[in-house]
Amino acid sequence: MRAGLEGASDMEEVRSLIDILDLSVEEIDQLIATADAIMENPEDYQNACQNKILATLFFEPSTRTRLSFESAMLGLGGRVLGFSDSSSSSARKGESVADTIAVVSAYADIIAMRHPKEGAPLIAANHTRVPIINGGDGGHWHPTQTLTDLLTIRHEKGRLEGLTIGLCGDLKFGRTVHSLIEAMSRYDGVRFVLISPQELALPALEKARYIDGKGIPCRECRSLEEAIGELDILYMTRIQRERFASEEEYQRLKDSYILTPEKMELARGDMIVMHPLPRVNEIAPQVDEDPRACYFRQAYYGRYIRMALILKLLQESGKGKAQPDKGRPHFPENALPGGVCKNPHCITTTEQGLPQRFTPAGEGEGEYRCLYCEAEYTP
Ligand code: CP
Repeated sequence: MRAGLEGASDMEEVRSLIDILDLSVEEIDQLIATADAIMENPEDYQNACQNKILATLFFEPSTRTRLSFESAMLGLGGRVLGFSDSSSSSARKGESVADTIAVVSAYADIIAMRHPKEGAPLIAANHTRVPIINGGDGGHWHPTQTLTDLLTIRHEKGRLEGLTIGLCGDLKFGRTVHSLIEAMSRYDGVRFVLISPQELALPALEKARYIDGKGIPCRECRSLEEAIGELDILYMTRIQRERFASEEEYQRLKDSYILTPEKMELARGDMIVMHPLPRVNEIAPQVDEDPRACYFRQAYYGRYIRMALILKLLQESGKGKAQPDKGRPHFPENALPGGVCKNPHCITTTEQGLPQRFTPAGEGEGEYRCLYCEAEYTP
């Protein structure tokens, strides 16, 4: 249970993964080592989760995250249950996230979930008997994609330090981008190049907290052609139709960046192209033949890092080793009570009986963040 969240249950503490910063750098190193060991000798792990059940609760569409979690648990000798469409669950009848999790955590040993509302996994983590893994919450976080990305970078580049990473596309709503910046900001010598239209720029609080506040070199630009030659990693993202309030705005921005073989000619010979997938048309299919394109290898790594994560959370939760909120200041005493979060994607817009709370943003007096979705709030 996470400290200080009102309405939380008094159930036994378990280790969940909600934000990538819930894991220390050392723990991520260990997860990568375990994933490597599993890739080398999968048969050594084929019964590691015998008699354990993973529930996959996907309130939003997914191919990679849900199926790689299920494949991971099956590869560890465990079993899986769940739903891939919330309309076939009692969420359709109006059941809350809190109630759903309280029930499913009696049926499974570990839960991986995805929800369109930002902050939903935090609610889940406070009403569960078993570990919760955030498989993506709105445009907020996607920590297991980031673990996948880190394993990919370690394999493809041989290191996590001293890299120039270009993030291109939707940096505003891109949860994979937010979690990757959080994670990479902890490694020495990292430099970011943020490539987006003004309308989809990285939120100012995010940039202040994880880049400027840490003194990390960073530049923002609008042109992929201008930036591509200086990158070790180009991390492409999809412009996400489902996050736009206006279809017109989506149509105007959707083709802002398209990576083509011609643009790849401007890149270094050892640059790699990553993408969390799915892509729509931001990477031309002809780029797939370029050995620097590693997005399908990236998806492959996702299964093994998730196997390592399932093992870790199950092992630790059985031994009372919970370490919630490591490295992240959640729910301080000076949280501002009252108010209404203005983010239409916040879980507080749909979850019944949830007390609204805002924590100081730290950047200036009178600036707050929603405790659940982290959106800016001015009283
Ligand atoms: N990368 C990723 O989250 O893919 P899915 O949406 O298919 O799960």
